[in-house]
Amino acid sequence: MKTIVKISLSVVAGSVLFLTGCNNTPQKATEVKPAKMVSEESLGLRKVDLYSENVVTPDETKYSTEYAGSGKVIERAFQDAPPMIPHDTEGMLPIQIDNNQCVGCHMPEVAVGMNATPIPKSHFTNFRPHHKFDGNKFEKSIDNMKNEIAIKEESTLVNARFNCSQCHAPQSVGQLVENTFSPDFTSKDGASKSSWSGSKLTEGLDTILGE
Ligand code: HEC
Ligand code: HEC
Repeated sequence: MKTIVKISLSVVAGSVLFLTGCNNTPQKATEVKPAKMVSEESLGLRKVDLYSENVVTPDETKYSTEYAGSGKVIERAFQDAPPMIPHDTEGMLPIQIDNNQCVGCHMPEVAVGMNATPIPKSHFTNFRPHHKFDGNKFEKSIDNMKNEIAIKEESTLVNARFNCSQCHAPQSVGQLVENTFSPDFTSKDGASKSSWSGSKLTEGLDTILGE
């Protein structure tokens, strides 16, 4: 019992000392530097605080209204990135199974006449696993012990490329945020041309070709 009383007494004495000490000389340990303040206005893309919903006006997306052929082709974002659509796509989107106007101008056999860049070889190459289909049931047709993917050049546009706007977006004027990314193009004309063709498509891949 005695010891407990002694301990609590010394605690009280200690805190009295501490308090008086505090009054006279500020203790080092209590000095906390104020945290760096981050303003609400700097948190997001909008430049107003989080409570001013009524004054928030998003930047307008201004798609190109240039006719096909008169628009300005912009640099690719990086080597072999899908190029942006430089022309108006009014009335062309969404692409439908029985209405894909893009192929009407960009298929290789018509593109030259239309002054349009032909759909590249990669879009005529199937990268998907092969299957057998008996009209009822799908079955894998390749050896499981080998690579799952067989790359095959097709004479028709591969279905995976049919929905052009899934990868190719129309250009829009203006810049919502500053872009500090600058690409290193691995091929000389990589900013304007795709290099992903021929043997480049399969280089270094352990795949069953043309099956
Ligand atoms: C009336 C013909 C026509 C139609 C329809 C058309 N295009 Fe184009 N497209 C052009 C022409 C002409 C150019 C400019 C020359 C060029 O860069 O290919 C062009 C440019 C492009 C480019 C830029 C190519 C590059 O090398 O930078 C892309 C991507 C493109 N079109 C995709 C599309 C998609 C996707 C559609 C369908 C939504 C479409 N186009 C519909 C004629 C057409
Ligand atoms: C799954 C994504 C995807 C789809 C779908 C797709 N593309 Fe592409 N496209 C790309 C990529 C990635 C490139 C650049 C690399 C390459 O050439 O394969 C490209 C390149 C192109 C180029 C430039 C070729 C060159 O020689 O520089 C044209 C033109 C083009 N695509 C048109 C089309 C059209 C038209 C469609 C629809 C019929 C389409 N693409 C569908 C991803 C796609």
